[in-house]
Amino acid sequence: MTEIDGVMRPATFEDLDAVLRLDRATPVGRERGEYLTARVNAGEVVIFERAGQIVGYIVHRTKSFFGRDFVDLLAVATNSRRDGVGSALLENSVHDSSTERIFTSTNRSNAPMTKLLGKSGWQFSGELDGIDEGDPELVYYHDAH
Ligand SMILES: CC(C)(COP(=O)(O)OP(=O)(O)OC[C@H]1O[C@@H](n2cnc3c(N)ncnc32)[C@H](O)[C@@H]1OP(=O)(O)O)[C@@H](O)C(=O)NCCC(=O)NCCS
Repeated sequence: MTEIDGVMRPATFEDLDAVLRLDRATPVGRERGEYLTARVNAGEVVIFERAGQIVGYIVHRTKSFFGRDFVDLLAVATNSRRDGVGSALLENSVHDSSTERIFTSTNRSNAPMTKLLGKSGWQFSGELDGIDEGDPELVYYHDAH
């Protein structure tokens, strides 16, 4: 696993406010309060903490995509980007996958995420039209290890 400064752990109810603040601060952030509250309560959110601050989180849903694990959402605080936090959270999800393959998706326009996935060895699965008009959803997968 990639060694960078910080710790990863499952988010608890006490972390919810910090996760919601981070969500509101991410530029792509539509307000996702209700959704994130449900995911934290379900134990499906892992956070990356550095010096007592939550600087990133990932939503990993077990067997939610055609019976395979799926990463719904990944976000890193703007001032902590390009420091390996997103890669570390994704790698942790691959490692913790309950199925032999894990999937995720992102908009074609999201260059940071598509580059991160390519660099981290995720394979392109296909693209879905009709979700965000003019901006297809690109689906990727990774073998668990
Ligand atoms: C996408 C995101 C999670 C990446 O997190 P991160 O912690 O900055 O990613 P990493 O530092 O692990 O980046 C790993 C690699 O991905 C690529 N990458 C990441 N951000 C990039 C950017 N802005 N431009 C180009 N390449 C980028 C690079 O290859 C990078 O390696 P390098 O820094 O050695 O060149 C972050 O930009 C983010 O939170 N974006 C807003 C939310 C979002 O779009 N989430 C994804 C869809 S759910």
